[in-house]
Amino acid sequence: MFDMKKRLSVLLAAMIFMLLLGGCASKEEQKDLSSDNKEEKLKIGMCFDSFVIERWQRDRDIFVQAAKELGAEVNIQNANGVVEEQIRQIDYFIKKDMDVIVIVCIDSDALSESVKDAKDAGIKVIAYDRLINNADIDLYISFDNEMVGTLMGEALVDNGLFGGKVIMVGGSPSDNNVSLVENAFLDVMDRNGVEVLDSTHCDGWRAELAADYIFDNKDLVNECDAIMCGNDNVASQVVNALAVQRLAGKIMVTGQDADLEACQRIVEGTQLMTVYKPVEKLAKRAAECAVALASGEELEGTDIGVIDNGKIDVPYVKLEPIMVTKDNMDETIISSGFHLKDEVYLNVK
Ligand code: BGC
Repeated sequence: MFDMKKRLSVLLAAMIFMLLLGGCASKEEQKDLSSDNKEEKLKIGMCFDSFVIERWQRDRDIFVQAAKELGAEVNIQNANGVVEEQIRQIDYFIKKDMDVIVIVCIDSDALSESVKDAKDAGIKVIAYDRLINNADIDLYISFDNEMVGTLMGEALVDNGLFGGKVIMVGGSPSDNNVSLVENAFLDVMDRNGVEVLDSTHCDGWRAELAADYIFDNKDLVNECDAIMCGNDNVASQVVNALAVQRLAGKIMVTGQDADLEACQRIVEGTQLMTVYKPVEKLAKRAAECAVALASGEELEGTDIGVIDNGKIDVPYVKLEPIMVTKDNMDETIISSGFHLKDEVYLNVK
């Protein structure tokens, strides 16, 4: 009896051991398989400032899709406008041993150390849409931000601002694009005898600050012919605040991004213009460059120039922005499929 019990338990132990052995072996195999996959796939980490502005979701979706088609996998992080969080997220990507980190920086002057850490770890870094200053980045890819400012200025002058008065409500002062846009805008104002009554900024691109400004500066607002807004989200707050004072449509307003609501305001007559930046081109080209850099290839293309970021001459892919007014809404926004005609003309009979 005792012998029988002993034999049975030895048999049971042997069976369990074999089962365990089988389980282990298959885990090992799995591990091998997944590490093989890992070796094949290039790893891209992408850090966003935030997704509050309509365009960035489009940037993300197109970039991820394009990178996927090129055989890379993309991990997305969103810092919700907090610089320290963005630095932590870059650090996380360094620890995760990404091949490339693509960054929409919150503060163009705050990432020198993070970029250095990434580069020391052999990771390539791309500044997406906004330049990162004083850092050894591998690429800056963006739209021509100076041209954005020029187009805003020219649209106003073409619509009678010559010798008039303008207020500037710009974006985040820590975004390098903002000074590029504003300086080019100021050049056009200068050449056309336009007086700048005042200039203010929305820290962190917080557009609600623009509405506060309009309510707090009623006299200046009454005196101006135009308000240059840093983007369409800022323009949205400005136009709402103007509407409360029955001034919407009477003061010319500019923007950028071609947000749907901005395009609606343009055809309705409460915003003069926006600047359309075909984000699809930017995101696809950035994905191509990210994969090339991750594979150790040289960047190639006639669209590559250089820009000085205070430390090095950074390879710079510069795309062309397009002015959009009521007159060319259909040829630009509708025919490219950026927005649907029905949506843009929703409130216009
Ligand atoms: C971009 C704009 C955008 C703004 C706020 C800028 O750096 O160039 O397209 O509207 O950031 O997110």
